[in-house]
Amino acid sequence: MDTVKFPASLFSLLLLLLSGVSSYTVFEITVPSAGQVGVYGRAVVLSCSFPVGSSWDVGSTMITWQHNLEVVHSFYHNLDQLGRQSPHYADRTSLYHEEMLKGNASLRLERVTLKDEGVYTCLVSTQIGSQKKSFRLKVAAFFPEPHLHISLLHNGQVDLLLTSQGGYPSPSLQWLIGNTEDVTEVTQTQLEQDENTKLYSVNSKLTLTRGTNSFITFILKNEDLGQEIRRNINLFSENEETGGLQARHQLVIFVVLLFVMVNSAAVVTFLFRRRKQNKFNKKDNKTANSRMMTGNMAALLHTL
Ligand SMILES: *[C@@H]1O[C@H](CO)[C@@H](O)[C@H](O)[C@H]1NC(C)=O
Repeated sequence: MDTVKFPASLFSLLLLLLSGVSSYTVFEITVPSAGQVGVYGRAVVLSCSFPVGSSWDVGSTMITWQHNLEVVHSFYHNLDQLGRQSPHYADRTSLYHEEMLKGNASLRLERVTLKDEGVYTCLVSTQIGSQKKSFRLKVAAFFPEPHLHISLLHNGQVDLLLTSQGGYPSPSLQWLIGNTEDVTEVTQTQLEQDENTKLYSVNSKLTLTRGTNSFITFILKNEDLGQEIRRNINLFSENEETGGLQARHQLVIFVVLLFVMVNSAAVVTFLFRRRKQNKFNKKDNKTANSRMMTGNMAALLHTL
């Protein structure tokens, strides 16, 4: 009697172990364990997939997305269940219901901001098995096309100020003269972070002595997005004295901006004419701004 009973219970124990092991090895969900990067203001698809077997059915499937302890999105009983959703994610999340049949539990999150950064957990439970996995979402924002401000100072110097507002994380900046000489160390850079959006505004100033002709390159990089803004500024300055009744100094500075875009290149010529020394001395400087739109050129002509 005992010899019959014993192997039977052993067998059932073995079966239990085997089924435990097999469901563990078969049911493996997939997430981007190296993490994902979302672009500020756009939608991001948080990736998660799970195996679907022949016995799988959507009615007994539960999908839950969490950000730390907050519920981002839930799905069970064949429906989105948003009763416990954190208000932070209201009206911004969706699952791909048709794709779910293929084992796609990815979550689309709209209008990403820096408050969405952090660790996300995808939890999938089906009758085949259940598992949860986590990964990190980073958020980054492209720096917009920089503005160039050129100031002629009364002491005879020329300031080149480049500004770009609303990128993330803080960028790396570089200034080159003649393509090789790195003058970043002598530039003045200010970084400001917006309290609410956490986005950075950057302005960087290079001061040059008037009379020098310079081929300047400005490089702004946002490594997280592989963004590189590289702009060339060719500065030609010239001092010219003219006689006559209305004797005056004439300062003519031509600035040729060769803004080499990713897909386009263009040349803009700036002409600054200073008419009166007196007038000029009253004010510290005058500024001309230029703004280049991507793939588009705008040239402003300022007469000082
Ligand atoms: C899930 O479906 C969406 C929408 O078609 C797609 O963008 C995403 O790459 C899919 N993810 C996986 C893990 O298959």
